[in-house]
Amino acid sequence: MTESSPKAPYTTNNAGIPVESDEHSLTISSDGPILLQDHYLIEKMAQFNRERVPERVVHAKGAGAYGTFEVTNDVSQFTKADLFQPGRRTDMLARFSTVAGEQGSPDTWRDPRGFALKFYTEHGNYDLVGNNTPVFFVRDPQKFQDFIRSQKRRPDSGLRDNDMQWDFWTLSPESAHMVTWLMGDRGIPKSYRFMNGYSSHTYLWVNGAGEKFWVKYHMKTDQGVDFLTQAEADELAGKDGDVHRRDLYDSIASGNAPSWTMNVQIMSFADAADYRFNPFDLTKVWPHGDYPLIEVGRMTLNKNPEDYFIHIEQAAFEPSNLVPGIGPSPDKMLLGRLFSYPDTHRYRIGPNYTQLPPNRARSQVNSYAKDGPMRYEPANTARPYAPNSYGGPAADVPAFGEPAGWAAAGEMVREAYTLHREDDDWGQPGTMVRQVLDDAARERLVSNVSGHLLGGVTPPVLDRALQYWRNIDKELGDRIANKVNGG
Ligand code: NDP
Ligand code: HEM
Repeated sequence: MTESSPKAPYTTNNAGIPVESDEHSLTISSDGPILLQDHYLIEKMAQFNRERVPERVVHAKGAGAYGTFEVTNDVSQFTKADLFQPGRRTDMLARFSTVAGEQGSPDTWRDPRGFALKFYTEHGNYDLVGNNTPVFFVRDPQKFQDFIRSQKRRPDSGLRDNDMQWDFWTLSPESAHMVTWLMGDRGIPKSYRFMNGYSSHTYLWVNGAGEKFWVKYHMKTDQGVDFLTQAEADELAGKDGDVHRRDLYDSIASGNAPSWTMNVQIMSFADAADYRFNPFDLTKVWPHGDYPLIEVGRMTLNKNPEDYFIHIEQAAFEPSNLVPGIGPSPDKMLLGRLFSYPDTHRYRIGPNYTQLPPNRARSQVNSYAKDGPMRYEPANTARPYAPNSYGGPAADVPAFGEPAGWAAAGEMVREAYTLHREDDDWGQPGTMVRQVLDDAARERLVSNVSGHLLGGVTPPVLDRALQYWRNIDKELGDRIANKVNGG
């Protein structure tokens, strides 16, 4: 059907009133002045001027889809969370993203990828806001803002700056594991469908008997892990900056629904205290040899958003959305994130963001919230306070009154993790370089790092960067130095 077809609906303004023309403003004669009373023209201009919401301060460029999570294995001995009970199917939303680039930036820039999931459970929204990396650059939320600023644009030139990135990384040795990961093959996935997702953080699971377990999530792509070389990615960035968004959309539209298998690693509650390194340290993985993967279920993305802005741009993920049976861990990064996300949503899309379609719980919402900008659902009760004796909601303490937490005591300090034997920065990236990568992957790592360092990194940052790689692996560091020095 073309726009001029007789079956096309007639245009209206936003109030539903038929408009007189799609193309001509109201004027005095055909070349005369425009009249202020052309309220349709004014509505079009004013609406257009307000079309954007601020982009996400990080993870601005992304793609997403709806789908289903289906439990395939019984993990009810570890958690009572409703979405993980045997046989359960739960509707969900996923958004994948790059981190440092802006809305229009190419999908194939080297960057971690966001892997944000929202499950619409019987007890409200459960958000698992992870990345395609099992670790992160820093382990204290105090450093997150500084880290991101070192990766984004300089205030003076408006340019990104490799020297600034390596300055921060080399002064923050806890970044070594994540940087090794980022500079390797997985730093540029072939597309969103070909990458794994990880909670990265450790969380707490609580079962029906009140027993507690520490848990890490691994979403393994059923499409297989695949990547782009730096050269392939650079070429694609010029040809089609949206190639990964397009791949996800086209794949789902053509009935080729991508899926991921959710696995968890489970650590007993008591093991955490004297594990060889701090199990809540976000710069470390739990080796599979110590804590093998246990299958939980499968997520399948099979429904594209009908309107990208409404469903993906306005999607608001928040690690603080934890449902009964799931709690946070003492990971300081995670605890910082619990504050940050709802705060940024209130700024970016408004205080009533939980009423927007992708963010609305599909279970009952009995909160005492009322009023505020853009609110359109009525308050739950005419007497908006608790406790009240007129039938307002009351917390069900026997059912939900036990916080998923842990005991804490001690002096107030500002200190790094130091209590565990192997709380070092270089060990796990060294293991990855020596034992996980093969010769060809190591060669690509050397090439990617040296290429990045040759992109404007100068002494003394350059010297520190070479030492950083020698600390990870002496031989690898020497090979990078050799390349950077023209060898
Ligand atoms: P394993 O040999 O059991 O695990 C190694 C894991 O490394 C693989 O299972 C795979 O994880 C991941 N991997 C494979 N190729 C690459 C690559 N090119 N870049 C990044 N990751 C890759 O050993 P351990 O569990 O003892 O871990 C050894 C090292 O492997 C760790 O120090 C860490 O650097 C890395 N690693 C470990 C993970 C873990 O959770 N234990 C997860 C990812 C990396 P996957 O199957 O999740 O794709
Ligand atoms: C997005 C803060 C660490 C994954 C965001 C946003 C903020 C933020 C403000 C923008 C949210 C929005 O506008 O919708 C922080 C802070 C961190 C931190 C303060 C550390 C203290 C992490 C870590 C991960 C992560 C460790 C992964 C394990 C994501 C993802 C998104 C995101 C996936 C995009 C969500 C989406 O698709 O809408 N973060 N972040 N962040 N962050 Fe973090």
